[in-house]
Amino acid sequence: MKREWDLLHTPGPTPIPPSVERSMNQPMIGHRGEKCKELMNDIAPRLKPVFGTSGDVLVVTGSGTSALESAVVNVTQPGDDVLVVVAGAFGDRFAQICETYELNVTRIDVPWGEAVEVDQVERALRENSNVKAVFLTHCETSTGVMHPIEKAAERVKEMSSALVIVDGVSSIGGAELDMDGSGIDILVTGSQKAMMLPPGLAFVAVREEVWPVIEQNPRPRFYLDLNVYRKQLQAGQTPFTPALSLLFGLQQMLHLVEEEGLENVYHRHLVMKEMTREAARALNLPLLVSDEDASSTVTSIKPETFEAEQFRKVAKEEFGLILAGGQKHMKGQIFRIGHMGYCRPANVLQYISIIEIVLKRLGHEFTPGAGVAAAQAAYLKHTRED
Ligand SMILES: Cc1ncc(COP(=O)(O)O)c(C=O)c1O
Repeated sequence: MKREWDLLHTPGPTPIPPSVERSMNQPMIGHRGEKCKELMNDIAPRLKPVFGTSGDVLVVTGSGTSALESAVVNVTQPGDDVLVVVAGAFGDRFAQICETYELNVTRIDVPWGEAVEVDQVERALRENSNVKAVFLTHCETSTGVMHPIEKAAERVKEMSSALVIVDGVSSIGGAELDMDGSGIDILVTGSQKAMMLPPGLAFVAVREEVWPVIEQNPRPRFYLDLNVYRKQLQAGQTPFTPALSLLFGLQQMLHLVEEEGLENVYHRHLVMKEMTREAARALNLPLLVSDEDASSTVTSIKPETFEAEQFRKVAKEEFGLILAGGQKHMKGQIFRIGHMGYCRPANVLQYISIIEIVLKRLGHEFTPGAGVAAAQAAYLKHTRED
């Protein structure tokens, strides 16, 4: 059982700000009444900047995967040619969803721990002349890579009329993505990561220009038919009973983000990335991902002198510090630190300090205090007093 003092640093779910928790704890309202309408009308425009779009952001009750699936079913038909960048477990999931819906999938395979090169996408587009859509993952949570999505989207748009569909489940709310500016057509996320909410909401941002494709798509769909979500949103409604408590929380989450300023939120995530990576280097902990490809929301460490799972066990048992392990073939090879959403540089200093003690317990060689000092130095380097 999770103890109250546990420190949750997985790359989702993530901790919830107390004010968001309090907001969720409100008396229930009817989802067809005025109050819910007011809530939806308030939330809808405020979500747009978080996705970098002036288009509609639809709120679906479901996990992040429902948002991925909704993107697939709404813009494709069986037999369509699509490209999917697969650089980890979540790129693979996107490919699996496309295969399930009988698309003709060409996987662009990238070694785990590396980012896709825009030229790889270009080559795949040249080799497949009739591509309907390109599916990409912004932050590949299983490795901690952040792909150059904006550049890739721009290249796709220069070369073709293919749609660009992006999984931003572990980045949106923590990392900037200029959806409209770069030509991303659909950008999706879930609530339980950088959005600072519990699991249960999925968000689907749709660029205005894409609606005709969705409207004219003959593929049957029901719960995930985005046309219905859009129509209902225009009336301040959702087609089905929404997760109302999560919507209360979302309203407060948006308030917190607006109060801090989106630019500052993104900068805070970059600072936390630098702090974590500099500390890892100072502690002789090998980083899985290069500086260039590293995500600002999750960092993967690939230890050589001790077992990753043993490290996670000691951190959890002694300090309640909960980190994630590797997925699929990376299981046992890496551990992953989530630093997104309701997470601040102060939390990074705390987990680095704990990590040092755990490393001592495991007999790893390093200079005590070196990780904390490096994190402090990175913090000072990347911030300034006003
Ligand atoms: C990048 C990415 N895509 C998709 C998902 C799937 O989201 P969910 O588990 O909410 O369905 C996750 C969850 O970890 C993720 O990190």
